[in-house]
Amino acid sequence: MKAVVWRGKRDVRVESVPDPRIEQPTDAIVRITSSGLCGSDLHLYEVLAPFMTDGDILGHEPIGIVEEVGAEVTDIAVGDRVVIPFNISCGRCFMCDHGLQSQCETTQNVEQGTGASLFGYTKLYGQVPGAQAELLRVPQAHYGPIKVSHGPPDDRFLYLSDILPTAWQGVEYASVPKGGSLVVLGLGPVGDFACRIAQQRGIDRVVGLDLVPERLERQRRRGVTVLDVNDFPKADDLVTAVRDLTDGRGPDAVIDAVGMEAHGSPAGKLAHQLTSIMPDRLAEKLMTRVGLDRLGALHAAIDMVRRGGTISVLGVYGGMTDPMPMMTLFDKQIQLRMGQANVKHWVGDILPLLNDDDPLGVDTFATHHVPLHDAAQAYETFQKKQDGAVKFVFKP
Ligand SMILES: NC(=O)c1ccc[n+]([C@@H]2O[C@H](COP(=O)([O-])OP(=O)(O)OC[C@H]3O[C@@H](n4cnc5c(N)ncnc54)[C@H](O)[C@@H]3O)[C@@H](O)[C@H]2O)c1
Ligand SMILES: [Zn+2]
Ligand SMILES: [Zn+2]
Repeated sequence: MKAVVWRGKRDVRVESVPDPRIEQPTDAIVRITSSGLCGSDLHLYEVLAPFMTDGDILGHEPIGIVEEVGAEVTDIAVGDRVVIPFNISCGRCFMCDHGLQSQCETTQNVEQGTGASLFGYTKLYGQVPGAQAELLRVPQAHYGPIKVSHGPPDDRFLYLSDILPTAWQGVEYASVPKGGSLVVLGLGPVGDFACRIAQQRGIDRVVGLDLVPERLERQRRRGVTVLDVNDFPKADDLVTAVRDLTDGRGPDAVIDAVGMEAHGSPAGKLAHQLTSIMPDRLAEKLMTRVGLDRLGALHAAIDMVRRGGTISVLGVYGGMTDPMPMMTLFDKQIQLRMGQANVKHWVGDILPLLNDDDPLGVDTFATHHVPLHDAAQAYETFQKKQDGAVKFVFKP
């Protein structure tokens, strides 16, 4: 089959690789009909390169048709249309029982000290071959796959694999009180859906921040108040502008939908550049021992949220000893929630919204549908935020 294979920093290629096969009775094989490109893939493309292995297959946002099932997979059958959550979870451990599927105890990576395995996400998360491919082996398929109806286009359900539940969890964790306000930092696919879900759930005052004109415009058209980070070279001025929009006090909650590669974080940027010229083994050590995320967005969130407010972190961070302003966090009595999305936990809330009325605008969400063989160009365009790209969907 053809698959998107990681060959080095900023080097992904579409290559022929062996077809996956059933290995466990709980496996299924799914023929992928659409597969998303995520901001999380961009971390692997460059900054998290030290954790990648030459030949890893990328991707974790698939929808497709079941081609084969193992003996213990009884809830789905050959021919079913399924969306596959990006986290691989068993559905029968303590964590899964508590709605914490991203911490599943069956697929946790104990030797790495990390949570549940993820598709296409480095040796930190099980090194499971990913979904930007023609076929996917789905472990724990007795539980993971979400069966959806055959009629509507792939895009209707595709985002259930990751970014819709991620954004939903972000809004949930933000716990905005009735009549309250929410700031969303970063208007990529995740921040975009966070704004839409917030509006859908009756949060009227949503302010979105980014620095990419098309992304800001996309939200403005949907009734979100937007601020262009570029207009505020001084961080304090940005905080003041946000406060001016939120009762002078700051928003009740801030969602960080940016993560470790935030624009405007010189120290972290230097560290990222350092790891990119170091041999991988050394870089891996530096990444895990020394804090080196670009913390611009998270620090902005801490500054702008109102006292006693909540910060909900969706963006992925990877540094182990990132400097954090503990005094401010403590003094402002900030509540901080974060984590990988527990996809299956939110499916029941989201699925009813994926109907013909399309209240979240999923059918028209993607800006680019491209054949899988154009993946290398797509990664580059998405990383550079060119051509109005917000969401790429591959068609294997
Ligand atoms: N928690 C989860 O389960 C989960 C799931 C999916 C994605 N993610 C993470 O969410 C984050 C966003 O993903 P995405 O697909 O939307 O990616 P993306 O890279 O397209 O979006 C990030 C956006 O943040 C903007 N940005 C950069 N610096 C900023 C700053 N200082 N202030 C405001 N905006 C800034 C960028 O211009 C970009 O539009 C990534 O870190 C990704 O890894 C987490
Ligand atoms: Zn993702
Ligand atoms: Zn489990």
